[in-house]
Amino acid sequence: MADYSAPVPVPGKNMGKADARIEGREKVTGATVYASDAPVANPTFAYLITASVGRGKIRKFDLAEAKALPGVVAIFTHENVPKRADAEFFSDGGWVNTSFDPMESAEVRFAGQIIGVVIAETYEIARDAAHRVVVDYAPAEPSASLLSHGTETVDAAKVAKGWKDKEAGNFDKAWAAAAVKLEAGYATPTQHHNPIELFTTTVAWHGDELTIYEPSQFVWGLKNGVAKQLGIDPEKVMVVNPFVGGAFGSKGIMTQRTGIIAAIAREIRRPVKLVPTRTQGFYVSTYRAETRHAIKLGADKSGRLTALSHDGWELTSRSDDYKVGGTEATTQMYAIPNVTSKVHIVRADRQTPGFMRSPPEVPYMFALECAIDEMAEKCGIDPVEFRRINDTMKSPVSGEKFTSRHLVECFDAASTAFGWSKRNPKVGSMRDGDWLVGYGCAATCYPANTMAATARVRLSPDGSARVQIAAHDVGTGATTVMGQIVAEAFDIPLSKVTVEMGDTRLPPGPVAGGSQTTASGGSAVKAACDKVIARFGNRLPSGPALEAAFKKMNTGVVEEYAEWAPPKSTGGVAKLYTGRMSGAEGEEKPLLAYAYGAEFVEVHIHSRTKEIRVPRITGAFAGGRIMNPRTARSQLMGGLIWGISSALHEATEIDEKRARYVNDNIAEYLIPVNADIRSVEVILVPEVDDQIPMGAKGLGELGNVGTNAAVANAVYHATGQRIRELPITIDKLIV
Ligand code: MOS
Repeated sequence: MADYSAPVPVPGKNMGKADARIEGREKVTGATVYASDAPVANPTFAYLITASVGRGKIRKFDLAEAKALPGVVAIFTHENVPKRADAEFFSDGGWVNTSFDPMESAEVRFAGQIIGVVIAETYEIARDAAHRVVVDYAPAEPSASLLSHGTETVDAAKVAKGWKDKEAGNFDKAWAAAAVKLEAGYATPTQHHNPIELFTTTVAWHGDELTIYEPSQFVWGLKNGVAKQLGIDPEKVMVVNPFVGGAFGSKGIMTQRTGIIAAIAREIRRPVKLVPTRTQGFYVSTYRAETRHAIKLGADKSGRLTALSHDGWELTSRSDDYKVGGTEATTQMYAIPNVTSKVHIVRADRQTPGFMRSPPEVPYMFALECAIDEMAEKCGIDPVEFRRINDTMKSPVSGEKFTSRHLVECFDAASTAFGWSKRNPKVGSMRDGDWLVGYGCAATCYPANTMAATARVRLSPDGSARVQIAAHDVGTGATTVMGQIVAEAFDIPLSKVTVEMGDTRLPPGPVAGGSQTTASGGSAVKAACDKVIARFGNRLPSGPALEAAFKKMNTGVVEEYAEWAPPKSTGGVAKLYTGRMSGAEGEEKPLLAYAYGAEFVEVHIHSRTKEIRVPRITGAFAGGRIMNPRTARSQLMGGLIWGISSALHEATEIDEKRARYVNDNIAEYLIPVNADIRSVEVILVPEVDDQIPMGAKGLGELGNVGTNAAVANAVYHATGQRIRELPITIDKLIV
């Protein structure tokens, strides 16, 4: 068994230095000030009143008892909350995660909807008052989930902007002719983000200028979206969020709470601090929606895949057609010439879902990679060999070549390290005392996205530098990587570089989503460095010569601002300055570029109790240039761990009758603890890709995509039971 914690990786070919995080010490010693910690003078405290019914109308509020509480400043409901303009659903070109204003009227569209805000002198008084508010509802029956009565199913291609279902060849013909066939259904549950830093909002007005302190993966989006809602010049809105205490999609797109709190603060002329509870966070933020999949795979006698049909059903709200759309990944994964696919969106009485780490790939690749394992078995071929046989260097849908692809190399590296050759392919044949042992594997992939970015870089005569970019470090190591890019460009130690991020006073960076911060933000930083160097005639002197050069130029510092946009992008930077995702119109993927990986899992399942353990997991990944092997390894390790969590633990249970989340707290929403996670091994497979920006594909989301299927496939190998619905819990194995 590999060491529980492998040493800092030795950089391989096309990898940068394994520098430690420059903000790491500050974080682990508790010195870091997060947006949620921001002190404001003379604050008031907000507590949310949220709907206790899953659908209906508010007949009446009884606020008398709440208002009578000493220290209550004001109570807002739909009857008196300041009106805000619509900032439009982000997928339709707007800013917010839902077009639905929860306090616009007496209508309740989902459980947990914000229907009131109590403002008081202390948090405790606000909470006390909120619990004294009596709400009289006219409730209606909600449709809670994908299979509930009363939902409405629509084709994504008809309602989701820019979405086209993927088709190639002639599926029906190939399916009819296939020698080996598999038809199977898969399902993934609702999952909720639980970052350590809650979904807080702190606002302060100074005259007509608004400052927002809020954990965000996109401060320029928040700035512009709130300005739109409040009808003010975005120049008057500042968002401060130097670090993010966990996010991974949940803080990517602004929610309705910020505009509500900002408008209230303007009206009461006091700063407001909102800290929704952990439970309220399950409703005021977004979540990974449940999905279902129908897959058909056909192959010829030699194990070559000839036909794939992938239908996906995804839950959304009544208000917004949020689309996940992972068939983009599954239809281009293997050399399958005949493809048909369709994404269906199911509208239910829930809040609008949103991003969670690898939003499309996690559910869709779970379905495909389980099906591939099942198909390999039907064909009598080892699953690693099966993927080799069906590997492709071009998209079977568009015919376009991938910029680079080392999926097979990842399988080779991971299977060797894991000891796959020791696997007895016979199901249920491996044992360790009372425990059934299973080995399983799956592929992972994630597209190499980029969006527009800008940055400012300053060089001082003493050889120190500063980089400013309103990008975000959501715990990924982005701060360190931006610093490394500057250190490398100027050939100075990393310790001489100051990195400033996460603040709208800085040049706009991209949303910290889609695994694109390094390639996009890094490209802007690199461009700014190049402009600084150009000021020195393209040869930067060092030491005393640098000081002399500054003297000769008669300047204090040399500072340059640079803009960068993906190749073929038009208007990307202009759009970024309006706080919209510059890739939203499809311009973010000018190249067909994916990062790939292979994940191998060993499971132990107790033969009688069916308790499931994962003693080890090994992943090998090829993601282009690795800027920092240490932070890269951490990200991928985190992905593998979240993947195990997703496979075995995580699910938001939904009360079918009330359309509420049952386990809406971190006592009952299960995540792994240290005892659940044993050996995690990350292998960085060297890869050079000259076609993509920075040569880097992004690693933030790659790690957790394949894990669900790898675990499910290992469970099958151990037990002979194909569990096609996540999470794989003991009850599903007891038959
Ligand atoms: Mo991510 S789910 O793109 O933060």
